[in-house]
Amino acid sequence: MKVKVFAPINLALIKYWGKDNELLRIPSNSSFSITLTKIGSETEVEFVSGLKMDEVFINGKEANKKEGKRVTDHLERVRKLKGFDLKARVKSTNNFPKSAGLSSSASSMAALSLAASKAANLNLNEKDLSRLARIASGSACRSIPEGFVEWIKGRGDEDSYAKTIFPRNHWDLRVLVVILSEKKKEVGSSKGMKEARTSEIFEERLKRVNEKMSEIKKIVERKDFSRLGEITEEDCLNMHEVMRTQKPSLVYWLPETVKIMRKVIDWRKEGLEGYFSINTGQNIFVICEPENEDELVKRLEKFEEVIEVKRDRIGKGARII
Ligand code: DP6
Repeated sequence: MKVKVFAPINLALIKYWGKDNELLRIPSNSSFSITLTKIGSETEVEFVSGLKMDEVFINGKEANKKEGKRVTDHLERVRKLKGFDLKARVKSTNNFPKSAGLSSSASSMAALSLAASKAANLNLNEKDLSRLARIASGSACRSIPEGFVEWIKGRGDEDSYAKTIFPRNHWDLRVLVVILSEKKKEVGSSKGMKEARTSEIFEERLKRVNEKMSEIKKIVERKDFSRLGEITEEDCLNMHEVMRTQKPSLVYWLPETVKIMRKVIDWRKEGLEGYFSINTGQNIFVICEPENEDELVKRLEKFEEVIEVKRDRIGKGARII
């Protein structure tokens, strides 16, 4: 059976940085995200009898060794669950630049988990699908459920998964993805995260993060946008402070990243409310309420450093198309 799915990226408002277990991707802290709608990965999987090796195509080209191995390793997990050894044909495309800090591994690994498990005729429930996606890429577990999502840290494989805390229609928020450069990052999240503990402020971050997790759920419940934005920026800057102080130090921002951050802060002072968030790359996410979306896009598009502003909102998780 050939199965085609779409999985969106998700934006962590309380971020995941550091693992307690590398192999199982058990995070050092719980995280909180919003699942987007249109920006993401489309993936098709078919297990074919007689095929000698898995065939993996990403964005129309045969996957390189590293990408191919990540996919094959994941297909192996699905084959193990199903108890067969058929090889697969996989075609995946992203509708945004990959490896540039826009969470392509989250959407692509969530899509692969759903497509491969369905193609293998495994009917996993949302929790088990999220657990499966987590092992391929931690943040991918948050692209399975819809809306406002918590990835519960858990103690191990069984209880570390993501679930919806509020559905997508609970609160209409907009997310602008500001693409400043399609340059690939030099140090990917998995590698960078390995050194998180070498930062002297890592333990401090962990101490505060549980408080932030319970606070953000209350903020979303009462739809307090200013507080949501503040805590989002605070956590983003805190995670980047950990990155900066770990050894070796990691700095993902480019001068244009800082320029846009500053502008977002300045516009807020004028009453145009938007808040930024950044992952492992130079590009920026800006969250806002619907009434400020057009004006923010207009202003962002004026900068020559901005290649594109993509608009998205809060949506459904991974789904069959
Ligand atoms: C900065 O999920 O890509 O985007 O589990 O090693 O695949 P692996 O890492 P990944 O890390 C995402 C890090 C982040 C923060 C976040 O999305 O929570």
